[in-house]
Amino acid sequence: MIFETHAHYDDEQFHDDRAGLIGSFPQNGIEYVVNIGSSVESCIKTVELVKQYDFFYAALGVHPSEVQYITDEFFEWLEEEIKTNLKVKAVGEIGLDYYWQEPERRLQKMWFERQIELAKRRHKPIVIHSRDAAKDTYDMMSALKCGETGGVIHCFSYSIEEAKKYLDMGFYIGIGGVVTFKNARKLHEVTQYVPLDRILLETDSPYLAPEPNRGKRNSSLNLTYIAERIAEIKNVSYEQVVEKTNENARRMYGI
Ligand code: NI
Repeated sequence: MIFETHAHYDDEQFHDDRAGLIGSFPQNGIEYVVNIGSSVESCIKTVELVKQYDFFYAALGVHPSEVQYITDEFFEWLEEEIKTNLKVKAVGEIGLDYYWQEPERRLQKMWFERQIELAKRRHKPIVIHSRDAAKDTYDMMSALKCGETGGVIHCFSYSIEEAKKYLDMGFYIGIGGVVTFKNARKLHEVTQYVPLDRILLETDSPYLAPEPNRGKRNSSLNLTYIAERIAEIKNVSYEQVVEKTNENARRMYGI
């Protein structure tokens, strides 16, 4: 059965058909879903959502593009949830995003560090978002000894050389819809390089739908296309990809 390691079902794009869609997952081979908080509001919604479905778990954290909205009150709530809510399995998504100019890098780094320290205090793995910020992300994770928490580099977009550094730190590599794109040669190389026991399946729904649904709203039902493409690249069976990545996700999230 498939383990969806990264989705945002709290997103407004699911407002009209959320219950029906999620309700169809078990009969479509989806065993677990981790809903990922990315803003103050989405963390609160994620906590509500995972209460409703046995097979849903949560990661809570604030994405680098949203850190300017963090308040002291929210950060206290976040730590309390991570400490006491048994369905919260990780801190994330957190990291650095230099694609946009705002919020300023100093602020992104400050909250990345504070959320890493929180994960270390609460012994949780971290879900990393890193875009156009390879060097700073690795330097901070290395300096803050993120090997102690472990976790995943979600929607991995860097080179084999970068992948090797994160694998050496004990991290998993999250592979999603981009792997099905014809022109994603760098990610195809990385997928071939990373051992199957270090890959996690993810969609980042509602974003980044794979071929043949590229450009449409994404959902975990599309994970079959991603697993098929990984199987092809690694020359293993589809079933092996599904089974191994499920084991990996359970190990990482502690489920
Ligand atoms: Ni995401």
